[in-house]
Amino acid sequence: MPVLVNINGELFPPEEARVSVFDRGFLFGDGVYETVRTYFGRPFLLDRHLARLGRSASRLWMPIPGGLDGLEREILRSLAAAGNVDSCLRIMVTRGARPGFVNLDAETAGDGLVVIIVRPFEAFDPACYENGVDVALVGVTRMGKRSLDPKIKSGNYLNNIIALHEARRQGAFECLMPNQEGCVTEGSTSNVFLVKKGVLRTPSLDCGLLDGITRSFIFEIAAEAGYRVEEDKILPADVFGADEVFLTSSLKEVMPVRSVSGQKVGDGRPGAVTQDLLRRYREGVHRLVGPGA
Ligand code: PDD
Repeated sequence: MPVLVNINGELFPPEEARVSVFDRGFLFGDGVYETVRTYFGRPFLLDRHLARLGRSASRLWMPIPGGLDGLEREILRSLAAAGNVDSCLRIMVTRGARPGFVNLDAETAGDGLVVIIVRPFEAFDPACYENGVDVALVGVTRMGKRSLDPKIKSGNYLNNIIALHEARRQGAFECLMPNQEGCVTEGSTSNVFLVKKGVLRTPSLDCGLLDGITRSFIFEIAAEAGYRVEEDKILPADVFGADEVFLTSSLKEVMPVRSVSGQKVGDGRPGAVTQDLLRRYREGVHRLVGPGA
């Protein structure tokens, strides 16, 4: 079965997967989540995703029913039951429902809800990698660290939805959001890197962004390859002046950017460092979860 939904340990086909209208994830976005993809049928960097889910949940004082070990078992069981060649997983935990109650106070929540959606993995259009994608620097600022810290991967993505909408209206594939100080943070569902004179630069976590699992993996493979990586404050002018720009995420891997707000990046073609890192990323995947790993 290609799409399968695990709700609190029970498996359902998609059309029968239902949760309560009183669930706080539905009412308030009061939940956390992770997106993970598989390669060769095996979830990639699952331990790191689960650790981040645990960190997100604890920042919201939200228990994970069954704990992270129980969750991992359910993920593997759901993947096996779905039987896809490769899957995309959405792993969600909410603070649950108390039927009849609509009350912000977290103390009034019932038991938590755990949902795992398994879908067949659908690759991006190969043109995204061959030509690069267009991004737009938007006016919508990234939520500040002292409001809902972007390091918490919560189920509340309205900040990102409106920023992406602004970018899409400009014909761009992804947005880049500034913080309140005007420094670049990240995209709606991606981190961003620049290449300038062979050095990699990416916004530091202090600027207010998600500590992407792919972002950290890039640090590791870039170090192995001998690239210098700087975590820094990045201004829009740095992005416009970069030789190369690329996005990272568990689904996008390393995706070249060919233009920013209509201005060509470098010569408008995916750069050599970006292509090298994408190749090394995929080699890393083989090494960790490939056949014989
Ligand atoms: N999004 N920044 C934001 C706001 C994100 O939502 C994501 C991931 C990233 C990249 O993180 P990672 O490398 O850990 O995937 C950065 C996932 C893919 C999603 O929302 O589906």
